[in-house]
Amino acid sequence: MAEFDKDSLRNTFIVALLLCLVCSVIVSGIAVALKPQQQANKALDQKQNILRAAGLLPQNSNVSEDGRTVNELFAEFSVHVVDLETGEYLEEIDADSFDPIRAAKDPAMSIALSAEQDIATLRRRENVSLVYIKREEGRLAKLVIPVRGYGLWGTLFGYLALDADLQTISGLGFYSHRETPGLGGEVDNPRWKQTWPGVQLFDLESGEPAVQLVKRRLPESNPGSSYEVDALSGATFTTRGVQNLVNFWTGDLGFGPFIARLKATSAT
Ligand SMILES: Cc1cc2nc3c(=O)[nH]c(=O)nc-3n(C[C@H](O)[C@H](O)[C@H](O)COP(=O)(O)O)c2cc1C
Repeated sequence: MAEFDKDSLRNTFIVALLLCLVCSVIVSGIAVALKPQQQANKALDQKQNILRAAGLLPQNSNVSEDGRTVNELFAEFSVHVVDLETGEYLEEIDADSFDPIRAAKDPAMSIALSAEQDIATLRRRENVSLVYIKREEGRLAKLVIPVRGYGLWGTLFGYLALDADLQTISGLGFYSHRETPGLGGEVDNPRWKQTWPGVQLFDLESGEPAVQLVKRRLPESNPGSSYEVDALSGATFTTRGVQNLVNFWTGDLGFGPFIARLKATSAT
């Protein structure tokens, strides 16, 4: 029998090829097996972001102050699909599988925004999005909406939560952005985030979103101060981006029509 020459060029290639095949089968097998776990982790992460924006979960913990888990807390929310133009619920679309950000990239599921409309630099806005509602004894307690907009280096993605009056901000948090740590990245600073709860959203006279991020706040006695949040120092572009995205998504082209409808129905 001919002796196996392990150093021959042909055999070296065969061994390398087999090794590559075995490794790729193992890696793709693991990737497929872990996909459900990855998706579950992603869903859990989004729930945490929503709960944190709503002030129901501490920034640095996965359980509430009274020991409840993310899934327990999130079970009190209902998720709805909303037509952004009319502000009506769309029951026929499955909220669990609908992805507003993907929809915004599809011309059939989104509208192009003109330069004047596009204050958050989105280019396109999805026709349909998601809202997260917590009710207590049948009454609206919190509304959380997804928000996004351009900062300096890229798009910031987050959630804005409103209190039951749909006028007072309950919190704002970003789960993804590319701003510089220490500058625009201070959007993640818990101390800055703590300055959001209580800020008033809509101008009482015009009804338009009126949040302003300012370097110098008005005196508290001035009614205008209730719309103000501290700007991020050394991060004028990120600051402007945050102000624009909050006002865009709560305005007529964002969730404004839905919020107006919800206000009307909650008041009855
Ligand atoms: C490396 C580097 C990173 C920066 N990152 C940010 C940022 O994340 N957000 C931002 O608004 N500006 C960022 N800037 C821009 C400057 O900080 C810019 O001067 C600043 O936005 C002006 O703010 P000011 O008017 O408060 O000084 C960055 C600049 C440099 C050089």
